[in-house]
Amino acid sequence: MEALKGIRVLDMTHVQAGPTCSQLLAWMGADVIKLESPAGDATRGQLRDVPNADSLYFTMLNCNKRSITVNMKSPEGKAVFVELLKKSDILMENFGPGVLDRFGFSWEKVHQINPRVILGSIKGFGSSGPYADFKAYENVAQAMGGAMSTTGVPEGPPYVTGAQIGDTGTGLHLAIGLLAALEHRHRTGQGQYVEVAMMDGVMNLCRVKWRDHQRLSRQELAEYSVPTRGLAATPRAGNDSGGGQLGNAVKCKPGGPNDYLYVVVQEAVWHGLAQRVGPDIGHPQLAVDPRFAHIGDRRKNQNEMWRLLDQFGSNYSKRELMSILNDLDVPCGPIMSTEDLARDEHVRGREMYVELDHPQRGKWHNVGMPIKLSASPASIKRSPLLGEHTDEILKEVLGWSDEEIAAKKHAGAFSTTPSQTSDVGAR
Ligand SMILES: CC(C)(COP(=O)(O)OP(=O)(O)OC[C@H]1O[C@@H](n2cnc3c(N)ncnc32)[C@H](O)[C@@H]1OP(=O)(O)O)[C@@H](O)C(=O)NCCC(=O)NCCS
Repeated sequence: MEALKGIRVLDMTHVQAGPTCSQLLAWMGADVIKLESPAGDATRGQLRDVPNADSLYFTMLNCNKRSITVNMKSPEGKAVFVELLKKSDILMENFGPGVLDRFGFSWEKVHQINPRVILGSIKGFGSSGPYADFKAYENVAQAMGGAMSTTGVPEGPPYVTGAQIGDTGTGLHLAIGLLAALEHRHRTGQGQYVEVAMMDGVMNLCRVKWRDHQRLSRQELAEYSVPTRGLAATPRAGNDSGGGQLGNAVKCKPGGPNDYLYVVVQEAVWHGLAQRVGPDIGHPQLAVDPRFAHIGDRRKNQNEMWRLLDQFGSNYSKRELMSILNDLDVPCGPIMSTEDLARDEHVRGREMYVELDHPQRGKWHNVGMPIKLSASPASIKRSPLLGEHTDEILKEVLGWSDEEIAAKKHAGAFSTTPSQTSDVGAR
């Protein structure tokens, strides 16, 4: 049985940060009703790869949901929203600051309409403080939450990470908050307001950088491969491990952009690793070389250690090197391209890259459900077309007749002058 069966989510989220959260809730069995403007979530038309079909940007973030269009700028649309709100357990939104209030539905109003409902909100910077009025996208959050200043190399510019820590990371935080609020409601009968700011979420995901920020006031950071003496802020440190063990990406054959193996030289494995590596690179005494004898020595001379490991690694492909090092119990992993992952047996076996069908685009793939519940496994279904379930939802959730639906349609509850979604405003 699906874990969240019976929980209804009225999902007004758009773009990525919100939809990634509601998709997880849907995969856990919640009935997620995606309430869209008559023009639809802008991502339906962004970065299109198939003419007139919902983009992958949309389809990959909105699976297992039902779609209804409601014009929140018309009195009739607002009335439909109120009826749906009364029948929902969770309302979710990630509009720009003030949008929900401008619709006339502040948290106070929402709570008054349905005291049991939980309102989940994502904002760039939350509802308080000097930044509260600003909009945000993924990389804005990465910039302001400390991720960019600590990613890259000291002599280069700051970099964003490929992982969507600002959007999807915030969606994960919100999902946790909503589940906690459901449990609280279970005990008290009361809904509550759950807010996650993208900047806060990124700061949370950069926690070890804050560890190092505070250590800097007392000492150099001996494990860093870059100089840290006298710094006031945590620096960019390339591919350093960020933990107590030394780590880095080791070059492999044939030297392509992703021909690297990430290797963690755990303290316990150094001796065995050095015995294996030394003879291969013409340094049979490596295991007893005093420059690398103890972890303190290896920290001090790590750039030379990595140079020797690069020399060793360059004789092997990343898969061959992985196999050699796994035999020595060295924690390591090849740098996987998306192509590597799409073909990977382990990934397929764990249903982490699943094939789906779609009436507009045919076969496509989505990344699977990363949370595996033994009694409630996720079954992934395609994303909805715009307004695909409008009538179904009005009948099933609100109990409306065909005549009532037709009257509301005529009154403009579900439409405006048709406007096209387009690539304008793509992130
Ligand atoms: C992402 C973001 C920058 C996009 O900005 P935007 O495209 O200007 O969208 P907004 O959310 O500010 O506004 C949405 C508009 O659609 C309108 N709209 C949304 N749903 C509607 C509906 N069902 N009916 C009628 N109008 C609707 C809103 O009224 C608003 O128009 P308004 O400004 O005239 O009031 C902004 O939503 C934001 O900062 N969100 C919070 C942070 C976030 O989640 N960012 C990550 C996105 S991945």
